[in-house]
Amino acid sequence: MVLIRKFEPEDLDQILQITFDTFPERYDPNVFISLHQACPNCFLVAEVVPGRIVGFLMGSKTDVDSARILLLAVKKNYRRRGIGSKILKMFLREMLLQNIKKVELEVRVDNELALNFYRKHGFYIVDIIPNFYYDNQNAYVLRKML
Ligand SMILES: CC(C)(COP(=O)(O)OP(=O)(O)OC[C@H]1O[C@@H](n2cnc3c(N)ncnc32)[C@H](O)[C@@H]1OP(=O)(O)O)[C@@H](O)C(=O)NCCC(=O)NCCS
Repeated sequence: MVLIRKFEPEDLDQILQITFDTFPERYDPNVFISLHQACPNCFLVAEVVPGRIVGFLMGSKTDVDSARILLLAVKKNYRRRGIGSKILKMFLREMLLQNIKKVELEVRVDNELALNFYRKHGFYIVDIIPNFYYDNQNAYVLRKML
């Protein structure tokens, strides 16, 4: 059983660990707190047993009718069990409730896994941003209209 719920500040250490294990970029923990304060409905976690977080999605509202997914990660041992899909679906539901019409995100052009995942959920490539990442790799911009 997986529970998808809103992020709470006590979850921060586990979220930082998952981020550290998943992404090469290093983020200031304050960024997570600030983004949560700016949009509590945009930050969701997946919990398998009380207090054990195995994935999360952190987003933000970029305009009155637009939102962005900034980070989405599921712990390696828990992947391919539908958890990422559950988090994403709940995020999209939350955004729809808040009259968001457009959700966008960036993905490394060689992240086939994520591209497959987002395509499966109706996202499509709308742009490419050269040198988007710290190691100069390009990003695809993906979009889904709600
Ligand atoms: C992307 C990610 C969140 C997906 O989470 P997940 O819980 O494994 O995803 P799901 O089990 O819901 O997968 C849904 C679908 O996505 C696609 N998919 C997921 N993992 C895949 C893989 N390794 N290879 C190909 N397709 C994949 C499949 O179509 C899958 O459906 P299926 O299992 O019925 O074939 C997870 O792989 C992850 O944390 N990746 C590293 C971080 C990352 O790249 N994040 C995205 C950029 S922010």
